[in-house]
Amino acid sequence: MRLIIVGPPGAGKGTQAESIIKKYQIPHISTGDILRENIKEETDLGLEAKKYMDQGDLVPDHLVVALVQDRLTRKDCENGFLLDGFPRTVAQAVSLDAQLKKMGIKLDRVVNMEVDEKLLVERAVGRRICKSCGATYHVKNNPPKKEGTCDVDGGQLIQRADDTEETVANRIKVYKEQTSPLIDYYRAQGLLLNIDGSQDIDQVFDQIVKGLA
Ligand code: AP5
Ligand code: ZN
Repeated sequence: MRLIIVGPPGAGKGTQAESIIKKYQIPHISTGDILRENIKEETDLGLEAKKYMDQGDLVPDHLVVALVQDRLTRKDCENGFLLDGFPRTVAQAVSLDAQLKKMGIKLDRVVNMEVDEKLLVERAVGRRICKSCGATYHVKNNPPKKEGTCDVDGGQLIQRADDTEETVANRIKVYKEQTSPLIDYYRAQGLLLNIDGSQDIDQVFDQIVKGLA
């Protein structure tokens, strides 16, 4: 299965991605995660990307496109993949189409997570992530068993640098302006699967599985 999951910040893409990759046994390619990893390791890409990410702006297309191009040619993508957070502009989608064509493969579906703006802010601002394994929690909707501590490995839970109310508002604006045109782009290709992402985590996953069947 070759999938894309798209949606505004805080829509639940990463949360659903964790379940999708387990069920369909495909690798999770999250450009946000890869960029954050680069920031942590202080690579050239990370240092460049940080300037944009801290403001909630998009990292320039050519940097992200190169990163995904490289990732998709790895062996573990042979039986499929889930792209999360990419493409994010029509230019990125066009370059992805060109690469897939060259590779002789096609996308199966584009999962489009639809969530009301008020809920998005609440979800993003309340999100906590594990410093060591990256697991995602929410202070109200999905709290860890012990406050501030990861259930998986006991790691410390922290807030993402771009999850402040102000930066989230800019990320939503950027989504509307630069990413939402992708919805029409993929609808025109007959690939779009709209999902009501405002329901609880398990209900959203059920909708996705039914939609992909
Ligand atoms: P990225 O990491 O992709 O962030 P995002 O798109 O803003 O998405 P989020 O990770 O914030 O949200 P999510 O939808 O995954 O929600 P989650 O499941 O965590 O990108 C970050 C930055 O990197 C960008 O701003 C940009 O600068 C750069 N970047 C990345 N890709 C790029 C690209 N292709 N081009 C250019 N720049 C790029 O859920 C959120 C919270 O809600 C969690 O706490 C969760 O527990 C909770 N929750 C989830 N689902 C539910 C539910 N159903 N009910 C209740 N609570 C829920
Ligand atoms: Zn952890």
